[in-house]
Amino acid sequence: MPAVGGIGPGTSKAYPGNLTPFVTVTCIVAAMGGLIFGYDIGISGGVTTMTPFLKKFFRSVWEKKEADKSKNQYCQYDSQTLTMFTSSLYLAALLSSIVASTVTRRLGRKLSMLFGGLLFFAGALINGFAKAVWMLIVGRLLLGFGIGFANQSVPLYLSEMAPYRFRGALNIGFQLSITIGILIANVLNYFFAKIKGGWGWRLSLGGAMVPALIITIGSLVLPDTPNSMIERGQTEEAKAKLKRIRGVDDVEEEFRDLVAASETSKLIEHPWRNLLQRKYRPHLTMAILIPFFQQLTGINVIMFYAPVLFSTIGFKDDNALMSAVITGVVNVGATVVSIYGVDKWGRRFLFLEGGVQMLICQAVVAACIGAKFGINGNPGDLPKWYAVVVVLFICIYVAGFAWSWGPLGWLVPSEIFPLEIRSAAQSINVSVNMLFTFAVAQVFLTMLCHLKFGLFLFFAFFVLIMSVFVYYFLPETKGIPIEEMGQVWKTHWYWSRFVEDVDYPNGGMEMGKGGQGVKDV
Ligand code: BGC
Repeated sequence: MPAVGGIGPGTSKAYPGNLTPFVTVTCIVAAMGGLIFGYDIGISGGVTTMTPFLKKFFRSVWEKKEADKSKNQYCQYDSQTLTMFTSSLYLAALLSSIVASTVTRRLGRKLSMLFGGLLFFAGALINGFAKAVWMLIVGRLLLGFGIGFANQSVPLYLSEMAPYRFRGALNIGFQLSITIGILIANVLNYFFAKIKGGWGWRLSLGGAMVPALIITIGSLVLPDTPNSMIERGQTEEAKAKLKRIRGVDDVEEEFRDLVAASETSKLIEHPWRNLLQRKYRPHLTMAILIPFFQQLTGINVIMFYAPVLFSTIGFKDDNALMSAVITGVVNVGATVVSIYGVDKWGRRFLFLEGGVQMLICQAVVAACIGAKFGINGNPGDLPKWYAVVVVLFICIYVAGFAWSWGPLGWLVPSEIFPLEIRSAAQSINVSVNMLFTFAVAQVFLTMLCHLKFGLFLFFAFFVLIMSVFVYYFLPETKGIPIEEMGQVWKTHWYWSRFVEDVDYPNGGMEMGKGGQGVKDV
């Protein structure tokens, strides 16, 4: 029986280098690029339950909510404009991540981060002072452009800076700052919603200027990556920088590999067309399916709409925001568990355990909501224990996501693409993620209205499919040197047929971390 999670043998190049204070601080500052993404995820759901905000911009939604008090709860927030408010950002992010990949490559990672910070700042400013819906939408498009730039460049920056042995933990640092951003936003929403005079939402939206400033200033003070400097012809400076980053003088081997990798990647004229070759079928499949599945867990239903959802199932506005804070804390905590376990227990274990956990919770939540709200969405009086049970299972679900598909949805693609297709494959990964974030955000409120409690079963169905997919098709990548990654496909019961005769020239190594030449591009 061939190995389902086939682990290939292999030896690693052991570049010398330490986790120096310099690289640690640099990576912490850069990882904060995730804050803008997280802050926005957390803020948008919260403001849409603030009555003054709804009254001002989405009056029809508010009127319907008022009128429907004791009737159909499933449909009270169903409004295309309200949905557009949340999801427009992801369309903008999708577009800008494609542009950002060129800026990042040609002008450096720092400049993309700077653009990200500035665009996000502009969006936050317009949103904070918004007087009409169009200002909100324009603001959100700018926020989205900012996120596209940041999400394209920050993970790349981190991977290039990190000593290879700490790549996994540092990569999840980005996800950790996303979850911290979400939590901060949830806490702020809770307090700002209490401001008398009803202008707290302006602080929530305008508050996004703070994380924007952090990444803007960060991008100005952070050093450029040696990879990026070499790519832009500053070879000698790059070597000095590499010594500083690694904290050792003996960086010859890594430096040589960086130069070689940069040269070989310049030889590739058609990275996109390259991706369609048969030998890249496993990679292309993962670049599309991993982000697709990550979003089809339904996580962003909770992240964007937890307050809406909680108020739908009978919580007062205030309690609904508080529950979002609770899920936010669970999200951060479980991400830390993932940082701890990812290199010990492996990716597949986390994926499968998280999948089972999410599946059970979704079934329980569907049953709870179905039992009380039935088909017509009219619950009558809800006992307190009922709300507690629903929130509890939603928290267990969030924990399941936060140590599996959350971080791994970004980590695994970053470690399986061979150098010669890496940037193109990574763009696909980001774009598919944004596209389905958009899709879920756009249709969720309508789906809640029509599928009712069945909505949770819809996502549960996908969690089942993705877990089966992981079981049969995703090889374990824990502890495999990236240079040896080509082996995991060769020993895999299914993927081996695509890669049997392939000699991956760069195995699948870290962008710029090795490689003696691309033979067959
Ligand atoms: C996902 C986001 C999600 C977040 C929740 C990220 O990995 O890409 O869509 O909102 O995790 O923590």
